[in-house]
Amino acid sequence: MAAGTKPLSKRKKKQGAIPASKNGGLTAATADRHELYQFSVQNVETEIDFVDAEFERLRGRKAALLREDFCGTGNTSCEWVRRRDTNRAIGLDIDQPTLDWGHERNLAALTDSQRGRVSLVNRDVLAPGDAVGVDCVLAMNFSYWLFKTRDELRAYFRAVRESLGPDGVFFLDHYGGSEAMSEMVEKRDIETDDGRKFVYEWDQHRYRPVTGEMDCRIHFRFPDRTRMKNAFEYTWRLWMLPEIQELLVEAGFSKATVYWEGDELDEDGEPTGEGNGEFEPTDSGTADPAFVSYIAAIP
Ligand SMILES: C[S@@+](CC[C@H](N)C(=O)[O-])C[C@H]1O[C@@H](n2cnc3c(N)ncnc32)[C@H](O)[C@@H]1O
Repeated sequence: MAAGTKPLSKRKKKQGAIPASKNGGLTAATADRHELYQFSVQNVETEIDFVDAEFERLRGRKAALLREDFCGTGNTSCEWVRRRDTNRAIGLDIDQPTLDWGHERNLAALTDSQRGRVSLVNRDVLAPGDAVGVDCVLAMNFSYWLFKTRDELRAYFRAVRESLGPDGVFFLDHYGGSEAMSEMVEKRDIETDDGRKFVYEWDQHRYRPVTGEMDCRIHFRFPDRTRMKNAFEYTWRLWMLPEIQELLVEAGFSKATVYWEGDELDEDGEPTGEGNGEFEPTDSGTADPAFVSYIAAIP
């Protein structure tokens, strides 16, 4: 036996596949990609915590009417109307099957009173029609990156600016850092509220430095060793924070503020490299390899 070679019987055995029947039936052929997305990508509670508190800090009152652009299944809108009896939400998206899923799953889970205060509308965010005069507009999970030129993004920002009431606020999120432009796959183990397990894979598949475009994909892996490949696919432009702030001002906003996440500290008070979920206004930020920040723009 060659030095260093372990006999087969002593090698670490590969873990066997866990049958879907032992994992609440979760398997690639039948899993619901929207449900998996909501469990792995979105955290609507923390998002709404930030929006609600920051709107009140900026405007000295509570927001009531929220518009969720690129709403998909309207998960954030549902969280908004759950927060207060006076809250109302309008979600805009152009994909009817996704809106239908939102009605059947997210809106159906609300009380009658909550459901009466949210509407999901099949409409282009560039032509919001009567979905105007709102307290806040949200463009989260980087959805506005589907606008790939300065002219397109400025036109969207202008449409938002014209949709806001006089003391409204536009909230966006942003993802950046050196890792944002590398081609890589990040995997995360997810466990649902009722104990079902799966792996979320964020695939930064292709980045084109000359155009700034990136192809991103989401895949899901299951403990029975099945995989749902390309459950979601996006081609985006990776926008940088200064460009976004400049375009917001060019679109008529008077001010755009970037909020940076603080560091989680270990028991010795040293940063762990993870964020702590607390976002504070900043003029500079830090050269973190990957960061998510919020932006608030006011007319
Ligand atoms: C990445 S998903 C975002 C889902 C959700 N906002 C979230 O936070 O996870 C992007 C959504 O934008 C929608 N969309 C794309 N172009 C749009 C447009 N011009 N107007 C409205 N919705 C659009 C797509 O149908 C899709 O549901």
